[in-house]
Amino acid sequence: MNFEGVHEKTVVIVKPDGVQRGLVGEVIARLERKGLKIVGLKLEYLSEEKLREHYAHHVEKPFYPGLEAFMRSSPVAIICAEGRKAVDAVRLIAGITDASGADAGTIRGDLAMGFANVVHCSDSVETAKAEVSRFFKEEEIFDYSKTEYLHVYMEDERKGVQI
Ligand code: PPS
Repeated sequence: MNFEGVHEKTVVIVKPDGVQRGLVGEVIARLERKGLKIVGLKLEYLSEEKLREHYAHHVEKPFYPGLEAFMRSSPVAIICAEGRKAVDAVRLIAGITDASGADAGTIRGDLAMGFANVVHCSDSVETAKAEVSRFFKEEEIFDYSKTEYLHVYMEDERKGVQI
């Protein structure tokens, strides 16, 4: 899958609190308004096995059993968003992990109070590549043109030139 130029991909999971609170549309709207392209989108119940793989570096932490139970309490919405420097852009839109201290204007800062923090997002380009493969089959990622790109990006950016 192409991760260069305007094709960098990142994964956003609207967690059970976001789904139950009716915030899926709000999250997608914020990604779209920024100029990100939605290239993958689905609902899924995450299995114990997939969560253990996804949170591998947290499995031994005291909060893990609670985190796993929380993540299995409802289907989650899984989004693959694409764009120039998409991983960093989405991290800024999401805000910091503990939502109580997240900046106003971010998803977590505006919509949450703690670790029930509405969204998960990939934390690096490397992690994003692993998460796209973990959560999406090849045929679930859509490669399509968006006319809006003529106004979201400068010509050099669309060509993927490093600036
Ligand atoms: S850490 O501890 O700094 O490594 O945590 P972080 O990488 O920021 O967070 C990893 C994910 O674990 C969740 N988390 C928690 N859940 C429940 N309770 C507590 N105390 C807690 N601490 C961290 C946090 O929401 C992160 O989830 P994701 O899905 O990655 O955003």
